[in-house]
Amino acid sequence: MSFINTLENYQKKINSFLEEYLSGKKGELYDAVKYSLLAGGKRIRPVLALAVCDALEGDNKKALVFGTALEMIHTYSLIHDDLPCMDNDDFRRGKPTNHKVFGEATAVLSGDALLNMACELITEAGFDAKITVEALRIIYTSSGAEGMVGGQMLDMKAEKVSLNEDELYLLHKKKTGALIDAAASLGAICAEKDKDLLKGYSASLGIAFQIRDDILDVDGDEISLGKPVNSDEKNNKVTFVTLYGIGGAQNKLMEETQNAIDSLEFLGEKGKFLKELALYLLNRES
Ligand code: IPE
Ligand code: IPE
Ligand code: MG
Ligand code: MG
Ligand code: MG
Repeated sequence: MSFINTLENYQKKINSFLEEYLSGKKGELYDAVKYSLLAGGKRIRPVLALAVCDALEGDNKKALVFGTALEMIHTYSLIHDDLPCMDNDDFRRGKPTNHKVFGEATAVLSGDALLNMACELITEAGFDAKITVEALRIIYTSSGAEGMVGGQMLDMKAEKVSLNEDELYLLHKKKTGALIDAAASLGAICAEKDKDLLKGYSASLGIAFQIRDDILDVDGDEISLGKPVNSDEKNNKVTFVTLYGIGGAQNKLMEETQNAIDSLEFLGEKGKFLKELALYLLNRES
């Protein structure tokens, strides 16, 4: 199967799972949750969990549940990221942002609900206790103060001060890299492998992913992106583009992508999809 077909199959599987999980849930809070969660999005984190699990010949029913839980947390992070007190953006996943439609209080609460829903989904799945705890630990450590939330805090503080290269790497590693690492770890534990088996790949992929995001904020197209361009400039963010220029950022992006690909060598032919995923993300327009 071609790379794109495999990717689309993963995305369909994730979307159907999410739709079914939310189908019986009614009321304004769930309307707000569904509005953002079912709005599309590339589903890169659950795709990665599934693809790592498949490359290692693991149990992909578990990877689907864990990856989808991670997508819930990622979606909550986007709802909160767009709020007026953070990036103040009006457009996300091709639609007006959650707070524009439902108001700020409901947007905050729908993010909170998603954070909890991820835990509900995993604990309701009925997997054995050992892997359940391991998945929860990976997800909640990577998304908390040591990971994504900590990174978002650094990102907000950096609107007022400048950052050097090491500080910017740390910020990107936390705000974006942590959930990408978590996705790869979730895939690995579903194959009963060490959670850090694919860390070399995911760490570089996470940085590359955010560098591409920074570049697209400057030279992307709002319609294909489904979110505003020039948001970083508006908010005085230090990004790979402000630090190195577009050309310099592009070089770093290629370097990190190559590092990610080199780290897959031990997988041989089984690493094919993951390699193609890194190349696809290098060139993505959305
Ligand atoms: C956007 O994430 C925020 C970042 C961490 C760069 P994605 O680019 O994965 O957004 P969706 O999920 O496809 O909407
Ligand atoms: C946000 O980074 C990363 C998150 C943890 C949500 P950005 O603020 O650059 O993400 P976009 O560009 O709004 O998607
Ligand atoms: Mg932000
Ligand atoms: Mg933002
Ligand atoms: Mg951005």
